Amino acid sequence: MPHNRTISASYLEYSEEEELPRDIGELIEAAKKASEGAYAPYSGFSVGAAVRLSSGKIVSGSNVENAAYPSGSCAERTALSYAITNHRNDFPVSIAISARGNSGIPAQVVSPCGNCRQFISEEENRTGGRIRIILACKDKTLVFESISDLLPLQFSKLSFV
Ligand code: THU
Repeated sequence: MPHNRTISASYLEYSEEEELPRDIGELIEAAKKASEGAYAPYSGFSVGAAVRLSSGKIVSGSNVENAAYPSGSCAERTALSYAITNHRNDFPVSIAISARGNSGIPAQVVSPCGNCRQFISEEENRTGGRIRIILACKDKTLVFESISDLLPLQFSKLSFV
């Protein structure tokens, strides 16, 4: 007989901006600001990601599109690539994502695509720590404590053996 198993994830949802812890609010502001740097002529959808490093430093990035669509990069990968390249030993501890479309900040959170989830997963494995994922939109903020919540049963170097 097969066993019926369940995969579940829990997260915090804030609906009041004033309730957000200061460091989270600050990271969301940095992500919002980063979205202004987006190069998104094809989708018109500007995304910003801000990464908090263990030293407290914040680095950020935005989506960079390409006429050959798959060659573009999402904001999360731009920001994390920058962090890994320039601050190799200052590990990412959280990442905030904020977007702006043609009609302003969306009512629903923008959640990382599968490719970005895998990228964040690699970074958790490289550093051995969890990366908090903060998804912000107009009236709410969702906080996940690890990529495992968004990408269960992930493929990693541990799967090689
Ligand atoms: N995008 C991101 O940068 N991050 C996400 O989490 C979702 C999607 C970008 C990719 C593309 O440039 C645009 O948003 C529309 O899909």
